Amino acid sequence: MRRSPRCAAVSRFYVEVVYLPSFVRRLRRRHGGADEPSTESATYRAALLRAIGDASADGIVVVAPNRRILSANPRMIEMWRVPPDVIASGSDECVLAWALDQLAEPDAFMAKVESLYDHPDERSWDEVVLKDGRIFERYSAPVNGAEGCHYGRVWFFHDVTARKQAERRVTKLRQDFAAAIVHDLRAPIQTILLQTRWFLRGITDGRVTVQESAVRRIEKQALQLSRMTTDLLDLTTLDLRQLPLQKEPIALRAFFAEVAEELAPVLDGHAVSVAADEPLPTIHADRQRLRQVLMNLLVNAAAYSPDGSPIDVAVRAHDGGVTISVRDRGRGIAPEELPHIFDRFYRGRNTRSARSGYGLGLHIAQAFVEAHGGRIDVDSTPGAGTRFDVWLPSA
Ligand SMILES: Nc1ncnc2c1ncn2[C@@H]1O[C@H](COP(=O)(O)OP(=O)(O)OP(=O)(O)O)[C@@H](O)[C@H]1O
Ligand SMILES: [Mg+2]
Repeated sequence: MRRSPRCAAVSRFYVEVVYLPSFVRRLRRRHGGADEPSTESATYRAALLRAIGDASADGIVVVAPNRRILSANPRMIEMWRVPPDVIASGSDECVLAWALDQLAEPDAFMAKVESLYDHPDERSWDEVVLKDGRIFERYSAPVNGAEGCHYGRVWFFHDVTARKQAERRVTKLRQDFAAAIVHDLRAPIQTILLQTRWFLRGITDGRVTVQESAVRRIEKQALQLSRMTTDLLDLTTLDLRQLPLQKEPIALRAFFAEVAEELAPVLDGHAVSVAADEPLPTIHADRQRLRQVLMNLLVNAAAYSPDGSPIDVAVRAHDGGVTISVRDRGRGIAPEELPHIFDRFYRGRNTRSARSGYGLGLHIAQAFVEAHGGRIDVDSTPGAGTRFDVWLPSA
């Protein structure tokens, strides 16, 4: 399990150097065992340990298997604002009740405590959020004797509120910055697209005489830029799965025709065939988001397969929804790359130098599909082609 190196190092230090020896000594005394040979050295060590516990920036509490509190340092009492009588009771139950009242998610906190009582040898690291907004890292480790006996468990609480707030501020700044740039880029790109379409209409009508292939190239690049800026703008949202969806009924056949026509300039002469079950159910989805999913899949299919090779779209109704498959006859994806292709900013090894992009298309497509309650799967054979299956519920 992930835990901060600092927290782990501090925790190990306390378990191995501070608490374990003093705790074992107390237990030995309690069970009539021999104490430290030298009272002087025991007094010295006790003073040392107390000073370290008192000065610790982390809250530390040690609990015996019978759920009695063996020790709690001042920082622990301060962090959890535990009244002296509650701490003096020595009852884990009373201290827990006090803590639970302050937690945003007391059930999850308690579940972890109970699970660790049931699994005394386990270590754990997680984060707990308090109702007042503070965030603590919580680390717990068993206190085991050399003879293999279990003496209890130590808990550490490290206040990371300031760090988390700073991280959030930086993330927000970064996102606002990206959003501002993308926003400013979109307007000129749209103007270029409108102008190229005006030229293309003019060529058809015979009103303008410019080389059509040149205008098509400009249109293709502008479309590519437009798609990339849309992806980037989406990325500035903290959690893509939380994006509000504006669902509406979508008749898939007409929708595919619309998207394919819009994409024609970027599909490099790849013929897109659509095979669909009859009748196709109407699905309820966010038109703009679904368009983006399909575009990102079709653009990939075209980009990663030989010029002019066919792209097949198949639509099948089943399991209360539809599966939209986009299949190409391209170079395929190596098995070791497959687990990463949906990661943010992941680009295939051979892709990076061959074609510009951010490695966002699939990440965004997956987020949108999942936001709709659907899923996206991939099946690829290197050298033969790739198929992406998007399943979306009808309702
Ligand atoms: N149809 C496909 N055939 C072969 N490889 C693919 C296909 N689709 C995706 N990939 C691989 O998965 C990687 C991630 O795809 P993704 O669409 O997320 O990013 P990208 O295409 O590199 O960049 P972007 O979509 O942001 O322009 C690609 O870099 C490519 O290596
Ligand atoms: Mg892509």
